[in-house]
Amino acid sequence: MKKDIKTREDIELLVISFYDKVKADDTIGYIFNDVAKVNWEKHLPVMFDFWENILFFTGGYAGNPMMIHQHLNKMFPLTKEHFKRWEALFLQTVDELFEGDKAELAKQRALSISTVMQIKIVGG
Ligand code: HEM
Repeated sequence: MKKDIKTREDIELLVISFYDKVKADDTIGYIFNDVAKVNWEKHLPVMFDFWENILFFTGGYAGNPMMIHQHLNKMFPLTKEHFKRWEALFLQTVDELFEGDKAELAKQRALSISTVMQIKIVGG
């Protein structure tokens, strides 16, 4: 049986595994690798803080993801298909590694934030 997401180390494993899939993905990988040219050493710790705050209310993340994706969308228009793929990879990564209440919460929050992002950016 898989365990639930319980520690910062669990979140690091989830986030690193997710972005390993993202980087290698045919549908959205190039947006991270070639369009945004993401500096992973900087981005990964931000994402650890973001998810730790969502799941454990640590208060360690104070960024503005909506603004960042709006900016990204101006450089490179994001589509429903991009978001669908992002969601599928995230859900798949959670399910491969964890199960339990926090694992369910992570999936729910990913989907709800993605929905809001799409309404604000792609237009519904
Ligand atoms: C098509 C879907 C998406 C694409 C292509 C995308 C791409 C990106 C890129 C390129 C960055 C900037 C990384 C950097 O250079 O620092 C970023 C940041 C981020 N993304 Fe996404 N993203 C997507 C969806 C989402 C969703 C659904 C979430 C919600 C869970 C999310 C959460 C974040 C957060 C929290 C940051 C960091 C913002 C900060 O620096 O404070 N992204 N994303």
